[in-house]
This record gives sequence, structure tokens and C-alpha cells, in this order.
Amino acid sequence: MTFESNNKPGTRSGMLSDRYSRREFLARAGRYSSLSLMALFFGCDVAQITRDEHERTALVYATKYGATKETAGWIRNGLAFPVDLVDIEQVSFADLLDGYDRFIVGSGVWTGGVHKRVLEFLETGSERLNGKVTATFIVCGTDGSKESGKKRIDGYFRTLHTSLETKPALSRSFGGRVIVEQLTEEDREALTRFYRMYLHRELKSWDRTEPSTAEYFGAELKKVLEKNVCAFS
Ligand SMILES: Cc1cc2nc3c(=O)[nH]c(=O)nc-3n(C[C@H](O)[C@H](O)[C@H](O)COP(=O)(O)O)c2cc1C
Repeated sequence: MTFESNNKPGTRSGMLSDRYSRREFLARAGRYSSLSLMALFFGCDVAQITRDEHERTALVYATKYGATKETAGWIRNGLAFPVDLVDIEQVSFADLLDGYDRFIVGSGVWTGGVHKRVLEFLETGSERLNGKVTATFIVCGTDGSKESGKKRIDGYFRTLHTSLETKPALSRSFGGRVIVEQLTEEDREALTRFYRMYLHRELKSWDRTEPSTAEYFGAELKKVLEKNVCAFS
């Protein structure tokens, strides 16, 4: 299984003393008390705040050539709180569903669709995932600045969200990458044909990944998660 974090998958994180040294525990406990005080001032639900501090978040991604994995990492940087990066091809659905309270789900797009295993995960776990998929993202070659591109991207998200009863609070598409030398023979031939037939040009490598855009999305997402914990208005 590929989990890029110090957290253990498949365990709840409610037991602070299991996971932290005494010193860390005391430091955290101090933080919670000041947090609770702040919450009282702002009229928030303290139980809700402390619960969400403990919630475990998985940033689940599906990649073939790596751009989606990198994008997931940049989103995590922007989120700036503990999140496990999980490759959907390296984990069982049961481990994911049992091990996490909140999910951010992303996939690359190949030949008109997102990764099959991501769709299977969302379908298989649809009941338990209800309300827990906070955000989705895709990484693709479609240019979303044009109307036709926007429609195509909407279509990718429609497919991704088919099994979700509660739609995610945030969804975003990011530019991906094609490095011709890294493609499998089958993919290179398919893309070469596609470029000649529909784009009337030869296939060349391109890279539209933007770390700062993905980090910014992570920061936006952090605000949404914080707002869910405590609505000041
Ligand atoms: C074989 C192949 C098919 C692709 N088909 C599409 C497509 O239908 N629509 C699209 O927007 N991008 C398409 N792309 C671009 C990919 O979405 C882009 O390369 C992305 O970075 C893939 O994610 P990954 O690097 O994580 O594998 C395709 C790329 C490849 C290699």
C-alpha cells in the first residue's frame, strides 16, 4: 500500500495518547484549550472543532504518468494540515473507507474518461462516502478557457460524481502533461492518430502543470473545511 504520511492507515485517530509522545500530547491539549476559548468567543460548537481536528483526510489520486500524483502533492502543500496521499491502485477500498473520515479525490483523464478504479471506489463506497467527499479534481489536456473545453471538463466531472449523493464543496480541473518518450507504445500510437486526425498536427510533448495553481486550490479547500467547522456568520 502506498500511504505517504506518518499516520497509520486503518486506525481511528481519536486516541491522542496512542499517536503522540507525552510532551506532544500536553502541547496539543494546551492548544485545544485555547481553541475552545476562542470557540466560546465566536459562538462555535467546541465538540465539532475538536472532532474535526482529529478527522483523518485521504487525498486519493489515480495517475498513469505522474502529473496527477504531483498535482495531489501540490494540493496537499496548500492544505497545510496532515493529509495522507493515497494511490488508488495501491490500496483496498475497505482500508480507505475504514481508515478515513474525509476524502479529496482526483484522477487523470485518458481517452475521454477518468480512472476506472476511482469510479469503482465511489460507486462501491457510495453509502459510506455520503457527505465525506469534500473535493474532487481532474488533471487533463483539455483547455478549460474555451466554451467547448469547459463543456468537456463538466462531462468528466459528471462521470466522476455519478455515484455521489452529496456533491463535493469544491471541484477543479488542472492542466496535465504528455512526455512522448514516456508513453506506452499503445498510447503513443493512439495519441499520434488523434493529433493527426483531429488537431491536424504532429504529437509533441507538452506540460501544463502549475504547482502554484494546485497549491492555491489546496489553500481554498482549507478555508472551506474551516468554514464547515465553524460558521462565524
Ligand atoms: C493516452 C492518453 C489519452 C488522453 N486522453 C485525454 C482526453 O481524452 N482528454 C483530455 O483532456 N486529456 C487527455 N489526455 C491528457 C492527460 O489527461 C494528461 O496527460 C494527464 O497529465 C494524465 O494524467 P497523469 O499524468 O497523471 O497520467 C490523454 C493522455 C494520454 C496519454
